Amino acid sequence: MSRHALLVGAPDTRDLVLQQSLARFGYTDVLYAATLMDAVDRYGRTPIELLVLALDEVEDASLAAIDRTVWRDHDVRVIATGPAADPRLMLRAMRSGMQEFLVRPISETECASALERLQRRLQSGDARGDVYAVYSAKGGVGVSTVAVNLGCALTTLQPSARVAIADMEVPGGDASILLDVRPKYTIRDIAKKLERLDGELLKSVMTPTTDRMWLLAGPDDLEDDALIDQRAVNATIAQLQSTYDYTLLDCEHRLNDRTLAALDASDRILLLTELQVPAMRSAQRSLGVFRRLGYPKGKVAIVVNRYRSRDVVSMEEAAEVFKEDVFFCLPNDYKTVSEASTSGVPVEHKDPTSPIGLAYRQLAQRIAGGTLPFGSASASSSATGPGPRSRLRELFVRKRT
Ligand SMILES: Nc1ncnc2c1ncn2[C@@H]1O[C@H](COP(=O)(O)OP(=O)(O)OP(=O)(O)O)[C@@H](O)[C@H]1O
Ligand SMILES: [Mg+2]
Repeated sequence: MSRHALLVGAPDTRDLVLQQSLARFGYTDVLYAATLMDAVDRYGRTPIELLVLALDEVEDASLAAIDRTVWRDHDVRVIATGPAADPRLMLRAMRSGMQEFLVRPISETECASALERLQRRLQSGDARGDVYAVYSAKGGVGVSTVAVNLGCALTTLQPSARVAIADMEVPGGDASILLDVRPKYTIRDIAKKLERLDGELLKSVMTPTTDRMWLLAGPDDLEDDALIDQRAVNATIAQLQSTYDYTLLDCEHRLNDRTLAALDASDRILLLTELQVPAMRSAQRSLGVFRRLGYPKGKVAIVVNRYRSRDVVSMEEAAEVFKEDVFFCLPNDYKTVSEASTSGVPVEHKDPTSPIGLAYRQLAQRIAGGTLPFGSASASSSATGPGPRSRLRELFVRKRT
């Protein structure tokens, strides 16, 4: 079936690469308009499935108008384009609910990946959301902080998305403290009525937190350990997945049946570590377990938390130890993070322009199918100096010799 795509803006958005990629994905009916207003006038009634928009050429006023008139009523996917990976432009695209951002001239691979992601989301039209497990076998590495702040960053980047944070610790962990809520109900209330679990029951036990983000709190008692079993975890995650666009699991550190069920059910595991030997050894062991479990490549993303440019271990050395690249790197920003958690407010609301606030948004953008990260803090920033390579290798191979 032929699909309609509408290309709006500068002539280079009409280039051959884009046209060929569109055709490969079934967009054989390609329309053109010079400006957004022109597009609305001429094609306002045409069933457009995809809009490719040169965002740098669009005024805020016409963006707001099109937002009200066209995008909200129709299921139009939007790819924004810009002359460079300009952070402000990309943020504007995300805030306007555009799903993808491409840099002009458009690269064939980038374009194909963006179209693939859009296709995937369309095919999962029965609204099966994404589930991300934040996990570290070692305590205190920042799992709860990352789960909560990443969730909040997702609500900023995707204005229509609904996000759930699920505290999978038994007894419950710190997510409710980080969000300053006192949950009336917990996962225990689901586990007790598992055979009646549906969307309504789930929503009734969720605690509202910030705008478009809800918390499924962990139980108060350690006695609930047996009640919240693998079956309860599977059913709860499945229900979360069909109710929310994104679910972030604040996983417990023990690798028990419950945690394994949560990790198995996740689309992606953010394996949290620090560039310190104990945390790295723990992450290295977890990676070994994940490989033995047969998790596909790409399911596990290594995220370094509390990164300092003066860390003794460099990013290259970390990649050597883990036998794969670090996916993302969150900077150490104790002041911002602790002030936010003490006031029970996500960093995104407390101090969105802080380096860590920016980094959470970058991470959210990378895992949720966005394009290039914007801003300065990213996994590409590596530590200075070669570091004590041989000593490191010795430490990490010690167990196997
Ligand atoms: N990027 C960061 N920069 C500075 N401090 C951070 C950062 N991320 C987390 N922290 C701090 O690290 C500490 C541990 O964080 P958190 O409680 O989220 O970890 P956890 O892995 O969930 O721990 P637990 O084992 O208690 O569940 C907290 O004091 C938190 O404020
Ligand atoms: Mg925690």
